[in-house]
Amino acid sequence: MTFDFDTPVNRAGTDSQKWQKYAGRDVLPLWVADMDFPSPPAILEALHRRVDHGIFGYARPVKSTVDAVVAAMESRYAWRIDPAWLVWLPGLVVGLNVTAQAFAEPGDEVLTLSPVYPPFMSAPKNSARVSVQVPFTLSGGAWTIDWDALERAVTPRTKLFYLCNPHNPLARVWRRDELARLGEFCVRHNLVLCSDEIHCDLILDPALPHVPTSLLSPEIAARTITLMAPSKTYNVPGLGTSFAIIPDSTRRARFIRATAGIVAEVTCLGFIACEAAYRDSEPWRRALLVYLRGNRDYLLDFLARELPGVRVEAPIEATYLAWLNVSALGLADPAGHFEKHGVGLSDGAYFGAKKGTHVRANIGCTRATLAEALRRMKAAVAAI
Ligand SMILES: Cc1ncc(COP(=O)(O)O)c(C=O)c1O
Repeated sequence: MTFDFDTPVNRAGTDSQKWQKYAGRDVLPLWVADMDFPSPPAILEALHRRVDHGIFGYARPVKSTVDAVVAAMESRYAWRIDPAWLVWLPGLVVGLNVTAQAFAEPGDEVLTLSPVYPPFMSAPKNSARVSVQVPFTLSGGAWTIDWDALERAVTPRTKLFYLCNPHNPLARVWRRDELARLGEFCVRHNLVLCSDEIHCDLILDPALPHVPTSLLSPEIAARTITLMAPSKTYNVPGLGTSFAIIPDSTRRARFIRATAGIVAEVTCLGFIACEAAYRDSEPWRRALLVYLRGNRDYLLDFLARELPGVRVEAPIEATYLAWLNVSALGLADPAGHFEKHGVGLSDGAYFGAKKGTHVRANIGCTRATLAEALRRMKAAVAAI
């Protein structure tokens, strides 16, 4: 079966956050992380059937939905999860915030590595916890963890570590030995490890497996809160369906207690999409990865040939997000400059990078849109 990722779908004038930002302006939105592709046919068909049923009451997952998640974990990662470990959530950002409240007290510190997806830094602050960030270093053409700086950052108030696996915005797939070392670090310092694995089914490099952090050892699993969702991979973030996987019953109970009365239920349509994603959409996902690899290669080739001032510092191993170093352009506000020339990128400063050094491009769009965005970026650089 073939899938069409090239035919554009007009999102202007819809409820799309990504497209509303530039309503009425000729700016191609390559910012917030959703893709411009329709969801897999299996999801669309399942949603149509559910809508035809006509009743949208409070929902609970049926067995086949839970089975689809459990089977996907086993077949993709050889991770055998007990259905009892699942805690359904309306979003991963919710999960990050709940984790901070459940496992740290006001004034306690939550450690993470930066640059990183902004809620990793803002979630602790939302509930008067403190975010502490250790910068990544670039070594031998790869983003690496500064282990000495990480050790130095730990204080008696450090309670929790937020990991992005694979990493947004660096597009890095963590290797088993790196994860084992991080896990050992959390065990040694008695930290709860919150592993955001929302991008785990979007690995572009076929040679790199996704290793769920929780799989490393029973000791690490017992302190790990894994956050996952079908939302990025199958382009259903607007349906608000995610889950935490928490093997340890005491930590799971604590997590659930922190959600009480605040965290909304997952909707009936969200459960339907989740089941159809994990059980019935694997051929679509494989085709998507081929298309995204093509976009990544197009981007890299264009930058090398036409835009030497814009650099990708390390391989794009996962996600549809490209972290671009634009410091050679000498612009105080590169994202603002590109926006004036018709391309809406994310400002790297938002992820904790030094202002003026980086932008993030979302390449989860048609090849034609990507080509046009790059043409505009070239014109923007020529206009400096
Ligand atoms: C690493 C990471 N976590 C979480 C999210 C958002 O998750 P949700 O929409 O489920 O809150 C994103 C979205 O870009 C992300 O990149």
